[in-house]
Order: sequence, then structure tokens, then C-alpha cells
Amino acid sequence: MTRYDFDQLHDRKNTSSIKYDAAPLLGKKEGLLPLWVADMDFPTAQPVIDALVERARNGIFGYEFASPAYFAAVQGWMFDHFGWETDWKWIVRTPGVVAALATAVRAFTKPGDAVLVQPPVYYPFFSDVTQNGRALVTSPLVYEDGRYRMDFDDFERKVADNGVKLFLLCNPHNPVGRAWTRGELERVAEICGRHGVIVASDEIHEDFARPGHEHVVYASVSESAARSCIVCTAPSKTFNLAGLQTSNVFIPNPTLRKRFKAEYKSGGLDEANAFGLVAAQAAYEHGADWLAQLKSYLEDNLAFVREFLDTRLPMLKLVEPESTYLLWIDCSALGLNDDELQQLIEDEAGLWLDMGTMFGEEGSGFVRVNIACPRSTLERAFTALARALPSEK
Ligand SMILES: Cc1ncc(COP(=O)(O)O)c(C=O)c1O
Repeated sequence: MTRYDFDQLHDRKNTSSIKYDAAPLLGKKEGLLPLWVADMDFPTAQPVIDALVERARNGIFGYEFASPAYFAAVQGWMFDHFGWETDWKWIVRTPGVVAALATAVRAFTKPGDAVLVQPPVYYPFFSDVTQNGRALVTSPLVYEDGRYRMDFDDFERKVADNGVKLFLLCNPHNPVGRAWTRGELERVAEICGRHGVIVASDEIHEDFARPGHEHVVYASVSESAARSCIVCTAPSKTFNLAGLQTSNVFIPNPTLRKRFKAEYKSGGLDEANAFGLVAAQAAYEHGADWLAQLKSYLEDNLAFVREFLDTRLPMLKLVEPESTYLLWIDCSALGLNDDELQQLIEDEAGLWLDMGTMFGEEGSGFVRVNIACPRSTLERAFTALARALPSEK
């Protein structure tokens, strides 16, 4: 068994990395330590690298399609890890989950129709709706006793009052880290079933459920949920392959699948990325061991941050994650407005984090921190933050 060294630092500069090379392009100062965008500072699993190198050696990169072995690998992963049995015909490959959600918006709704999201939520959920000329309806999550929950009464009222046609579910939820329980997803399915709402479930973070929590595939909660949803998955978060732009959308209902595929083809999105296919298949066939080691490392990273906050920065409250490698931290006790908080983080601490308001106004006073990096990077980041805070000066 290969033992991976997640402590090792890797230079990502000059790789066209958004995280490391795009600061000026995105209006940020050079030199900030980046813990924002959701990719990892770790190389992917060795079997994936080996498969890519072998494919590259062939030297010919013409038009490609997903083979039966590819679909078997994707299906095998869903069954082995989540007990979800699927048919290969359900799978539609897309060049990313954001593209899949935008396709769902166009395929399942008309201009002006209402689409519901639950802020604070991953920011493209808003733009996928508004940039396609649909009406955005929000049912904010409720933050109570340090934990987030859905407000089912508000959810159903908003659905009914606005004639919502589509719900973009973030399962598990980025940024608040909830791994929705089967019971919660059943209630979502009941409400959506009563009102004829299609659900697009973004399950890109499916593999990061923490000990004591599980990932429940939305389509697995009931027959009727399966008939009226799409489930968006990808190896990109799990195996750090975002740049290969390869994701798999499961659509059990043939009518919805036909509508989705028609929209997707009309956008010219149905070609495959040769390297994406190879990497996804290798990851799903041979990556489980790497993932287990990664998750154990991430647990220790989380323990480091929790301890650091408890002892050195008790005014910052960690929202205990149930899944994902993204931490949602409540900074409201600092008494700063969002501009002041951002200034402190960037100008004083020298960090690049995602400010909570990017995820909707409900994120005011919070920051999102990506802990998928070597521990020494986290130590640098949190030490800098502690130094920047007034009581530490
Ligand atoms: C919830 C969620 N969905 C989708 C994405 C991006 O997906 P893709 O790169 O496949 O478009 C991210 C990336 O951070 C995410 O957190």
C-alpha cells in the first residue's frame, strides 16, 4: 500500500492555478496565502497520475467517448460507497457540476420561472439561476445553537407562494458543512413531491462525510424522489481533479434525461475530455485507499483548527462540519462589518479567504476556510490571523 505524505509542500505557482496565480486578475493583492477556492494543495492519487502519464505517452488526443468500463467505474463507486444501485443509461457526463446545474435550470424551467436555493450557499447557485433569466427564490437555512437546519415551513411556503419549479439542493451543503440526513431529505422529497418541484442535487462533496455522518444520495430516499431529480457527482473535489472538467449526472427518469440531454447538446457541451475520462475511471477504480488516507489527514487538520480557535482565538466560532473540507467560521463576535473583516484578513493577516457574504447576505460575519492543505500551511494561516487580531497585537 502506498503511504501518502500529505505534509509535503508543493509549489503550485506558475501552473495557471486560480488559487495561486490569479490574484491580480481577480482584484487581489499578490502574496496573500490562499485558503479560498475549493481545490486541494495535494497531488491526486498515484494510480490516477500513472494512468494520465500512460495516456499522455500515447500522444494522440482525438475525439473520445465514455467507454463501458468508464461507466462501470462510476457506478461501482456509487454502489460501494453509498449503496446506490444505478443503471449506466442514467449517466450524462458534463464538463463540471456548475455547467450541469445551469443546464438543469434551462432544461426544466422557462424564463421567469422560480428556482429555489438555500443560502448561505455556494455562489454559482445564484448565478446559474439569475444569468439564465429565472427568478431566484431563497429559503435561508436557520443557524441555531451553532448548527444549521432547513426551515421546512418556510421552504414549503416559498415553494407554494412562488410556484417554484426547480430546487437546487446542496448535498452536502457548501459552505455550512451539513450532511443532510435521510429524514431531512425525505421531508424535502415530500414537499417537492406535493408541489411538483424537480430537484437538482449537487453531491460533488459526497465523499467527505466525517466519522459519525453519512452521505445520503437524494435519489435514494424514495421512488418518487428518484423520478423527479438529477444527482450531480464528480471526482473533482474527492480526487482534486477540478481542472479536468469531468462530472457525471445521474438522471433516473427518462423524460427528464431527454430534456436535460437536449439542452446540454444545444449548448454544444457533449464532448468528452480525454484526460478527464482516464482520471475519473482510474480514481474510481483505484483511488479508495488514497481517499481514506486523505480523510484521516483532513480530520487531523480539523482538530488542529478546532484546538487553535479554542485556545488562541475563542471569539471565532467554528461551525462543526459534518462533511466537506471547507470550514465555516463565525467571526461576528469581533464586532466588525464585512468590509472591516475582509480588510483585517487580507491587509493585516495576509490571507485570502472566501468572505461569508459571497454565499448570500446570510453569510455576513462569516468566512470560509479551505483546510485541504499541509498542516504547516494551516499553522501559518491561523498564526497570522491570531497576530492580526487586536487582542494579540
Ligand atoms: C457545491 C459545489 N458545487 C459545484 C462546484 C464546482 O463544480 P465544477 O467545478 O464541477 O463545476 C463546487 C466547487 O467548489 C462546489 O463546492
